[in-house]
Amino acid sequence: MASIESVIEGREIVICAGSGGVGKTTTSAAIALGMANRGFRVCVLTIDPAKRLADSLGLKELGNEASRVDPALLKAQGVEPENGGELWAMMLDAKETFDALVARHAEDAEARDRVLNNRIYQQISGALAGSQEYMAMEKLFELHSEGRFDLLVLDTPPSRNALDFLDAPRRLTQFIEGKSLQIFIKPTGLAARVASRGTGVVLSVLKRIVGFDLLADLSEFFTAFSSMIDGFQDRAKRVSSLLADERTSFLIVCGPHGDQIDEAVFFHSKLVENGMNFGAAVVNRVRYRLGPRQPKVGDLTKRIASAIDDEDLAGRLARNLAEYDVLAVRDRKNIDRLTGALSGEPVIRIPYLDTDVHDIAGLCQINRYLFTDEDERVQLATN
Ligand SMILES: Nc1ncnc2c1ncn2[C@@H]1O[C@H](COP(=O)(O)OP(=O)(O)O)[C@@H](O)[C@H]1O
Ligand SMILES: [Mg+2]
Repeated sequence: MASIESVIEGREIVICAGSGGVGKTTTSAAIALGMANRGFRVCVLTIDPAKRLADSLGLKELGNEASRVDPALLKAQGVEPENGGELWAMMLDAKETFDALVARHAEDAEARDRVLNNRIYQQISGALAGSQEYMAMEKLFELHSEGRFDLLVLDTPPSRNALDFLDAPRRLTQFIEGKSLQIFIKPTGLAARVASRGTGVVLSVLKRIVGFDLLADLSEFFTAFSSMIDGFQDRAKRVSSLLADERTSFLIVCGPHGDQIDEAVFFHSKLVENGMNFGAAVVNRVRYRLGPRQPKVGDLTKRIASAIDDEDLAGRLARNLAEYDVLAVRDRKNIDRLTGALSGEPVIRIPYLDTDVHDIAGLCQINRYLFTDEDERVQLATN
């Protein structure tokens, strides 16, 4: 089965999707590193890197801008990119991206500030359903339009459900076009009516409870926001079509457990249904069998005991190994099921490593599996 390099050859955007905790951030960072090493100018857009991984890439927490990973940091781990390859990384900040969008679509500085300083906006820009997912794509779109990089690798937000990501532009436009917003925006809408009454008893009570003039703020926000709606809708459509563009490829990152495989199969079908380009499934934290036969606990215990002179510990080790083998067999079955369901599309396995992956050395470890073919992968994992 293919190396990840051949899977993403010729693509400009790679999106690592999958449910939370499976290894999306790790995989995205590793792919970006591997491609930079092969001479590409690559930027990885990460969402929630573990602090140690972020630190090891020299990532700043704020800024929402790409910064180059210091070549000296890479060199210290033996990574010296060929042909001017560069690794860049950025940590996505959904709120800042939303702010930048407002600034882009506002008619003038005053309209911009009216929205940005509005308390309702400040609340919903962080909490709006799908806004994190949408803003990730938005930033991707922006970077892609700038054309500074050969390849962008997007690590998707840690939503429970991978489908949330695909759905985000639709949900944002739905919110904008939806009834709830229209009620407020129309000149005769609720907000205008309530605001014009101004000093009703209800309002003053509300004001006391929430501490500020809620409805006046609502009214102001929706009025200011309404002038930006066309811009937002148009942009969301363009972002959506970039996702389906042939320059974009989706990787599904998943774990080897039954339910994780089910989700991956389902997500793959949704990608195909939505006309997206599927690249490969990356099954992470796979347990490999260490031999062709199930170890017999009794025999093993004896063999281990003769080496370590501790019957009890030897027994526990032997049972542990036997259990590991059961899990490895189960992983194999699940992955076979995935391979069958994807009918010949690439499935790349990464083994369960002994330690967490939190630095460049760890990413290099992952890349030994990503950037090679299946035979070599099996060799590496079982030796
Ligand atoms: N193949 C692996 N072997 C061992 N640990 C791994 C492996 N892949 C990822 N990890 C660890 O698992 C945790 C979750 O990975 P992460 O990439 O942050 O997942 P996600 O972004 O999908 O939530 C991290 O602590 C990471 O170091
Ligand atoms: Mg993550």
